[in-house]
Amino acid sequence: MNKGMQTQSVGPEPTPPRSRDKDVLAPLAGARMSYAGSPPFMREEKGMRIRWWQSIRWRLALESMLVVLSAITLLALTAILSFAYYYGVDQSDRLNMIATDSAQQIGMNYTLSNNLHDAAVASLPAILVKSQRTQNQGYLVIVLNRFNQRVYSNTLLQRGTFAGLPRGALGKIRIDVFQAQQGIATTDDLGIGGLAALRPFEVLPIRVNGQSDGAVIGVLIMVPRSVLANNIPPFLTTTSQFVLIASLIVAVLAALAAILFSRTITRPLAKLTNAARVLASRDYSARVQTEAPGELGELARTFNEMAARLEYDVNELHRQELWRRELIMNITHDLATPLTAIAGLGESLVDGVNQSREDYEATGHIIVRETLRLRRLVRDLHLMAKMEAGALQPQRTPVRLATLVDEVLAVLATEFERANVEPRNGIVYNLPRMPLDADMMTRVFTNLCDNALRHTPAGGTVTINAAQSAKMVRVSVTDTGEGIPEEALPRVFDRFYRVDASRQKATGGSGLGLAIVRAIIEAHRGTIWAENVPTGGARFVFTLPM
Ligand SMILES: Nc1ncnc2c1ncn2[C@@H]1O[C@H](COP(=O)(O)OP(=O)(O)OP(=O)(O)O)[C@@H](O)[C@H]1O
Ligand SMILES: [Mg+2]
Repeated sequence: MNKGMQTQSVGPEPTPPRSRDKDVLAPLAGARMSYAGSPPFMREEKGMRIRWWQSIRWRLALESMLVVLSAITLLALTAILSFAYYYGVDQSDRLNMIATDSAQQIGMNYTLSNNLHDAAVASLPAILVKSQRTQNQGYLVIVLNRFNQRVYSNTLLQRGTFAGLPRGALGKIRIDVFQAQQGIATTDDLGIGGLAALRPFEVLPIRVNGQSDGAVIGVLIMVPRSVLANNIPPFLTTTSQFVLIASLIVAVLAALAAILFSRTITRPLAKLTNAARVLASRDYSARVQTEAPGELGELARTFNEMAARLEYDVNELHRQELWRRELIMNITHDLATPLTAIAGLGESLVDGVNQSREDYEATGHIIVRETLRLRRLVRDLHLMAKMEAGALQPQRTPVRLATLVDEVLAVLATEFERANVEPRNGIVYNLPRMPLDADMMTRVFTNLCDNALRHTPAGGTVTINAAQSAKMVRVSVTDTGEGIPEEALPRVFDRFYRVDASRQKATGGSGLGLAIVRAIIEAHRGTIWAENVPTGGARFVFTLPM
């Protein structure tokens, strides 16, 4: 289905138009375009309808039901077969016992009455009633005399009595009768195949007085009634029914359990799918709430992690894009202001409006000042860009901080003098040399002193101090100016940030100075922060590792 999706999206949509889109998510512009133009993955959703038998839930349920059913069937069959087997063995043992008993009894009674029929009538019913009671199994009994004439049978023998017997069974009995007349007892079965054991019969010689060496006076044939009817013995029918009913109950319970159990797997999956759908609709706050244990819980947690990361990344992109826009606006504005001034003044020079030499000089001064400002701005921007690209690595040499600060103050001396602010270098000369990039550190002190100077009224001081601890040096630049509003303290290091934007002309530059300072300090693996001095004034503190 993925293939279909791709060919569809490629087909109707050639190259997406170049990004005129001023959207926040510029890096995602390509993806968004195809989304807005022809939403291939939205269309796909309809084709993805899952049929019920394809769903994991039903497949799981059906598969486990199948397994349970096969197991139950196997178990039931085994149970029934083993019942049948042991019942068969037991049944022929009993038959043998009763038949032997009966033959003996008849033999004994015969000596009393000398009539085989009377002897059979006298002995058989009592024995048979007893067996019927204990085994719930009736027997057909036939007594033949020496001449194979039937003298007794406990059942009305008519057509169809032997219809249930398998073919050849009567022939088999006939042979056994012949044998019995010779005095040989037979225990045999009439069945065919697997059911043979369930179809026993006995043909026994009846001897005078029941003695094993007495003369044969007749033959006793005994067959269980279930054999005649060719049906399954009552005991087995009952037990089989029990087994089948139990199996059915177990199967139904197993099916219910399978359906319920499969839900515990598919419910978290459904939740995940929903969350993924919400995520796909670009709502990155989508999360899965589930207490599912095991792999599904893990999947849900991973999904949430992924969503959180995605949300963060998208927000970050958003923020960066806003920042980039603001940056460009600030840069163009800061470039445009001096350029406009220079252009205007240049034009007035060309027009010759200013005649006097003083006017020319004044105009020239302003042009030079604005040009220098421009140059500084461009340099700052360049430096910023380099720092951001990580291209600016400190070239470390052993630097004596006290000397470096002296040099910076010397360069700024005229400006301090003009502002009537006193610079104080409080760094002791014997502070050990530190591995620093001298140019960058000069830049740091220049920027900080320049700021301090600009915000300190006449008669104030700007003091630079350094204190050494075990692993680092802590440097501070303190002035006696107006200080920095509390809410602006954490923001002064942001690019283009100025506490009072409107005062730019009078006291500020473009707002890049402190951003550069922080970047340099961080490149030296130090940290910097701003604070206000309780007695009035601002203090910039930074640490540098030794
Ligand atoms: N010593 C100070 N006292 C009071 N406010 C200060 C001080 N130093 C900085 N600030 C405030 O922090 C802002 C940011 O300083 P930053 O050096 O980054 O910019 P800037 O001096 O205005 O411009 P740039 O340094 O690029 O010429 C300043 O505009 C000013 O409002
Ligand atoms: Mg500055």
